[in-house]
Amino acid sequence: MNIEPHEARDNGPSHAPVMLQEALTYLNPQPEGIFVDGTLGLGGHSRAILQQIGPKGRLIGLDCDASAIEIAKKNLIDFNNQCLFIHSNYRDLCKQLQARQIKQIDGLLVDLGLSSFQIDDPERGFSLRSMGPLDMRMDQSEQFSAFDLIHSLSEKELDSILDNFGQERWHHRIARLLVAQRSKQPIETTQDLTRIVLSALPAKRNRQKIHPATRTFQAIRIAVNRELESLEALLKESEFLLKKGGRIAVISFHSLEDRIVKNVFRDWGKEGKYQVLLKKPLRPTEEEVKQNPRARSARLRAVERI
Ligand SMILES: C[S@@+](CC[C@H](N)C(=O)[O-])C[C@H]1O[C@@H](n2cnc3c(N)ncnc32)[C@H](O)[C@@H]1O
Repeated sequence: MNIEPHEARDNGPSHAPVMLQEALTYLNPQPEGIFVDGTLGLGGHSRAILQQIGPKGRLIGLDCDASAIEIAKKNLIDFNNQCLFIHSNYRDLCKQLQARQIKQIDGLLVDLGLSSFQIDDPERGFSLRSMGPLDMRMDQSEQFSAFDLIHSLSEKELDSILDNFGQERWHHRIARLLVAQRSKQPIETTQDLTRIVLSALPAKRNRQKIHPATRTFQAIRIAVNRELESLEALLKESEFLLKKGGRIAVISFHSLEDRIVKNVFRDWGKEGKYQVLLKKPLRPTEEEVKQNPRARSARLRAVERI
């Protein structure tokens, strides 16, 4: 079945669902199934799942960003009686399902990272290409922002975040300069941060394809949202949630996420709990990357409960 990506209604924000056909093939939603979309976003993948599970199927969509939930509700208005929308971090999936007496599910999809509408909104502070406050919280009901992180952590802690979550070669130099600069005046905006990163780098360095501050932004965002911790917790929690034959499909966007998914799936495979459906992660087609450059680093992995 060929699924057409949904055009968001009322010209509201839209997000082209990444690796849509591939995700559906490996998630394999069947009529009347109960499916969880752990990263609802604007509901692009959810819509396609809903089309496959038919009127008796149910979809539970989680997102830690309350504004994503509001937009997805509108985008999925024609399926709303089959959907349960939950504003929650996916690391609390089991708790959320238990509270609603849902014991087992037929499938779980996770499409990690950010939605375009979050990246494109300068006020959210995710993009180094637009001027905005240093926020970067996916869940705006949380208190701790990128500004708080940059101003409260020690040089050693900042250094380790840049190294571990950004794989930034110049982590020492950037951490040192951040600490020196913040003692003179607060680092308030995405542009302040970009400027500091640029001045921390040695003049003679290999030019990269990506903007020199990309890794710093990635590292800080991962730390603010505790992204890797949440992903590990989600996978640990979901192990027993899936019915026999039920599937988990995860789309990740960088090697740190993919490594976690790969290791958990490999362990489950060895323990005979799940069958690993893809030995190597599936990548988007060239055609998709041409149409949606944000898909370029996507990797899909999937397992089936034995
Ligand atoms: C790439 S987008 C998903 C797009 C969605 N598949 C679609 O087709 O519209 C990722 C979404 O997951 C949400 N998210 C990221 N980490 C989360 C977490 N730990 N718990 C819940 N939602 C999360 C983000 O707020 C964002 O809306």
